[in-house]
Amino acid sequence: MTHRLEGREKVTGGARYAYEYPMEDPAYVAAVQAEAGRGEIVAVDAASARRLPGVLAVLSCENAPELASRSNGELAVFQSRTVSYRGQFVAAVVAETLETAREAARLLRVEYAAEDPDVRLRDDHPGLYKPDKVNAGLPADTELGDPETAFGSSEVRIDVTYTTPAEHNNPMEPHTTVAHWNEDGSLTLYESTQGASSHARTIARVFGLDREQVRVVAPHVGGGFGAKGSPRPNSVLAAMAAREVGRPVKFAVPRQQMFATTGYRTPTIQRLRLGAGADGTLNAIMHDVVEQTSTVREFAEQTASPTRIMYRAPHRRTTHRVVALDVPTPSWMRAPGETPGMYALESAMDELAAAAGIDPVELRIRNDTDREPESGLPFSSRNLVACLREGADRFGWAARDPAPRSRREGRRLIGTGVAATTYPARLNPGRATARADPDGTFTVRIAAADIGTGARTALAVLAAETLKADLDRVRMEVGDSSYPAASVAGGSSGTASWGTAVVRACEALRERLNGSVPPEGVEASADTADEVKAQEEYARHAFGAHFAEVEVDADTGEVSVSRMLGVFAAGRIVNPVTARSQFVGGMIMGIGMALMEESVMDERFGDYLNRDLAQYHVPACADVRDIEAVWLEETDPHLNPMGAKGIGEIGIVGAAAAVGNAVHHATGVRVRDLPITPAKLLTRR
Ligand code: MOS
Repeated sequence: MTHRLEGREKVTGGARYAYEYPMEDPAYVAAVQAEAGRGEIVAVDAASARRLPGVLAVLSCENAPELASRSNGELAVFQSRTVSYRGQFVAAVVAETLETAREAARLLRVEYAAEDPDVRLRDDHPGLYKPDKVNAGLPADTELGDPETAFGSSEVRIDVTYTTPAEHNNPMEPHTTVAHWNEDGSLTLYESTQGASSHARTIARVFGLDREQVRVVAPHVGGGFGAKGSPRPNSVLAAMAAREVGRPVKFAVPRQQMFATTGYRTPTIQRLRLGAGADGTLNAIMHDVVEQTSTVREFAEQTASPTRIMYRAPHRRTTHRVVALDVPTPSWMRAPGETPGMYALESAMDELAAAAGIDPVELRIRNDTDREPESGLPFSSRNLVACLREGADRFGWAARDPAPRSRREGRRLIGTGVAATTYPARLNPGRATARADPDGTFTVRIAAADIGTGARTALAVLAAETLKADLDRVRMEVGDSSYPAASVAGGSSGTASWGTAVVRACEALRERLNGSVPPEGVEASADTADEVKAQEEYARHAFGAHFAEVEVDADTGEVSVSRMLGVFAAGRIVNPVTARSQFVGGMIMGIGMALMEESVMDERFGDYLNRDLAQYHVPACADVRDIEAVWLEETDPHLNPMGAKGIGEIGIVGAAAAVGNAVHHATGVRVRDLPITPAKLLTRR
């Protein structure tokens, strides 16, 4: 068990985040957001802004330099007069101070030819279409057998629709770029990003530079949850501004501006149909998803993907339909796809359990499968049932009275709920170097990202283990695109992917070392591209189970999660102390999803109405009471040299369903549209 290596640096303020890099003579950027929900920019009046002393430049569609690539509409900053959504960056001021930049931005007058935006997701929207693929390269639709007929003839049927709202990632550190053009024409970005290598690659393409001409430095990142998994407009804007004024610039996106410009989770409308025999054995599963994208860029989330792998049923179907609205493009937010998808599936499973009169833990065990139901592939390992049993045991599930509203203590209605969770175990190619120096120390380098996950620590543990060296002899260097290229910190793939590269580099170094290290040191490197390609065909997923207990105030409808337990089977857990934080952090985010988080779209003007942490609620310490995550020993020889599955996202998946199921058990009220607010509980009693 190893505590976060950079922990002391972080709590003493020594760890440097993007905005804090000292620059010589920096200028500051303030951005202007579109006040039209859709339309054209007719004119930009910058006269009074320019007159303000200290203003260095004003950028907009009227004078911005042409970018080399506009293929990503969200990054085509100031490249056209079209306004695609309210809140889009339409102009910016660069000034000597941040205060001047903001004041000048306020003085800018942008005139629009505005039209009414179309921002409301609905399942009868005429613009709904079937995307070619959904994210992660998955098919939009799948079908096996004859699900409609099988559903129609099933003894127990559940046909329900769940809706989930747009949600915003809200990392503590806002999206931030410090951009500096070097004399040789290369660009250095101090950036808050989940992937230094991919960030550099994308920005190079946007500016028509060679990949080596962009360096992205990001050793410490204050959270991302997916929102920093791809470059956002702030990065392009800062680089453009720095070039314009010939000085380094700093740009941290204000929290209020993040809601339109740095990504969010798409809202969903999900129809679930489950057909089962009287004993609860599933015969048909249908999961039809409606979700949104923007007019700028297609983002089609793979919401029904977990339904393809969870339970056995001979007749099944999943579909995804998206509509391009006048909204910011949705993006990745912790377990995109699995999180809303499993909320719906695991809530429907609870409804099926109630309808069939079967215990919800037992229902899931009865429908377990030893092969991936749609592909037919064997699982590399699957310990869902073991997690359910272990969790039921630890949580005291056996004592539960299944009748809703059966436990009351004073004003408090008490209920418990269960839900399963899953997340794919991914492996991405990457490179790493390991170096031995004569003083007995080792330096391991990889452009991996530690966004607060503990990645640096886990990789150091793996390096030390492979080198058979003490941990304090190993220097682990991450977060710089000048290091060997690594995949993005996304899809819970970091430990597996980067870990494989680090282990292989350390193995190669050990082979080279015999006896003393020469004065110039010894270095070895690894590239895992071939190893990743050579993987055998298996269905690789982590599994788990959430158990939640809630107390609902019978008079006010306030819900409090009094107890929560997550049990996970995710291969080898490399570093228990940081792994626990990942699991528990995901579960807490699940509590937020269940009870609080909701980005409210203004249907008349466009854009999200709640744009700060006072109005966009996430769980605070007082909302998190007794919460615990445990894991089972799981050995899986088909993954990677460590035998590790990803753990960054599985904690949130299914968590909101467990809470919602507990609320139903406590109150007898089934809320099918998140979040479960007091008003919904009181009015539907
Ligand atoms: Mo994650 S949402 O794959 O960064």
